[in-house]
Amino acid sequence: MSHIGSYENRIKDFNWSLSEQELGYKAGDKINIGWYCSDRICKLGKAGKKALIWEDFQGNVKEYTYDDIRVLSNTIADYLQKRGIQTGQRVCLFMDRIPELYIGFIGVLKMGGIVQPLFSAFREESLFTRLNNAETTAIITQKKLLPTIRKIRDQLPALQHIIVVDAGDAPLKEREVPMNMEGMPRVEQFDVFSSTAETPSVLHYTSGTTGQPKGAQHVHYSLISQYLTSKWVLDLQDNDIYWCNADPGWVTGTSYGIIGPWSNGITQAVLDSGFNADRWYSFIEKHRITNWYSAPTAIRLLMKEGTELVRKHDLSCLRHLSSVGEPLNAEAVIWSQEAFGKPFHDTYWQTETGCIVVSNYPGMPVKPGSMGKPFPGITATVLDMKTYEPINDVGKVGLIALRPGWPSMIRCYWNNPEGYKNKFKNGWYLTGDRSSIDKEGYFWFVGRDDDVINTGGHLVGPFEIESALLEHPAVAESAAVAKPDKVNMEVVKAFVALKPGYDVNEDLELEIMNFIRKRLSPLAMPQEIEFVKSLPKTRSGKIMRRVLRAQEFGEPIGDISTLEND
Ligand code: WT7
Repeated sequence: MSHIGSYENRIKDFNWSLSEQELGYKAGDKINIGWYCSDRICKLGKAGKKALIWEDFQGNVKEYTYDDIRVLSNTIADYLQKRGIQTGQRVCLFMDRIPELYIGFIGVLKMGGIVQPLFSAFREESLFTRLNNAETTAIITQKKLLPTIRKIRDQLPALQHIIVVDAGDAPLKEREVPMNMEGMPRVEQFDVFSSTAETPSVLHYTSGTTGQPKGAQHVHYSLISQYLTSKWVLDLQDNDIYWCNADPGWVTGTSYGIIGPWSNGITQAVLDSGFNADRWYSFIEKHRITNWYSAPTAIRLLMKEGTELVRKHDLSCLRHLSSVGEPLNAEAVIWSQEAFGKPFHDTYWQTETGCIVVSNYPGMPVKPGSMGKPFPGITATVLDMKTYEPINDVGKVGLIALRPGWPSMIRCYWNNPEGYKNKFKNGWYLTGDRSSIDKEGYFWFVGRDDDVINTGGHLVGPFEIESALLEHPAVAESAAVAKPDKVNMEVVKAFVALKPGYDVNEDLELEIMNFIRKRLSPLAMPQEIEFVKSLPKTRSGKIMRRVLRAQEFGEPIGDISTLEND
């Protein structure tokens, strides 16, 4: 029996206080996510239960019980406190998916720091932008990532502690210190910071259309949504072995890759290795994964390998499958039914929402291609694109909007009140996505309403790419747009107009690519540069990216009445 039971009954008189009660929380109480994910689970009698089964790319396995997570996160929290790191200061986690990343996340929260997880593949510009914006005090990292940090550390005056988890005998420079999680004396008891509902917890950077990435600020109260959505949507059961294949550098990897499973006292498995279908199936088979949270790009890659590969493995352990990050095509749902004997359940949400807001629930019939229905306690609708009033016509496309007030909604963008204010109209939070709603209340995703590019589930802002291109001496103007892609749904394509005196040639394209590679994260790298004489612009001079995008997708260009006349 699923936890949610009947969706219809759950939405009738839903109140978030149900989640509070299950967690033993009352308004005004202390609430610390780190404590809830470790100490509380031990108190419930699960100290000896496995919390983390970790496997690296070579197949080495390490296991940690809930008591290990409790004690090791105490040890990290104590270490950070003794180094003088204060509550409210930003502590960045910049590591591969190693145990220190997951346990460090809990440790930072326990000492009252704001945890800022960043993807370990970021190069210096992407890292710099985010550390600079957050005025990050400390970064916890691996030896192999030190060269990247060393290139930018002198331009980051706030960055006082560079903490290396695997330093060994490596020579360290000033402000660089070793922290050997398992080698340090274990701290059995730690006075967990008395955070309350509105105390900042996690700071995730996300891309928008304009400006640099924005820091989405979550608070400890987000737990109330993350706990219950994990239980009801992902259907986490006590005997599950759960796998979320997302990296904690992104919100899926924290909300549902740490907080969700651990606050529910579930055993989770982590594979610190890139995509490989055979390897993934072996991982599921070896650890008897029962519950899997994945993403459309990964599913499409698995589809490419076919069902024959699936048949070479015993995957009968799989019980529940979910997906997030991009539209889950109907074909993928149908394929998963054929390959695994069960459908992937699409879930929709964002960094800003902190938790799943629209979804297909266990037990509810899946309509392949639909995102499902709003989570109980979430009021979701589509708004007219001009009036911002809810649309009552069945099937008409509008802007997905949510009534603010659920526990895990972000409270601000870091140092960017204007950007936050712009996300609201007529008392609704605007997601920036478009969808329709059918007569049974299912949401059907149509596309984004802005120029943000979704490549393999990762959002990339055009501004970041265009800024990097403009730094090159030959580039006069540039536009970055999405281009369709079979696996990643979208990839980045850049349009570039050159300054007078520069000629288009392959060497120049290569030179520009190499130039921006250093500045951008690998995901934001254009797959292609097209050189043009000029870019389509509005009369007020704004680049009309949607004209270029429509061209790439072979779609009608739409209203171009504001296009400048050349
Ligand atoms: C954007 C949010 C929240 C976890 C992953 C990404 C797109 C997300 C779906 C879905 C269609 C989806 C939207 C959304 N998106 N899930 N099920 N179907 N599109 O978080 O990086 O903040 O991205 O991803 O465009 O706004 P994020």
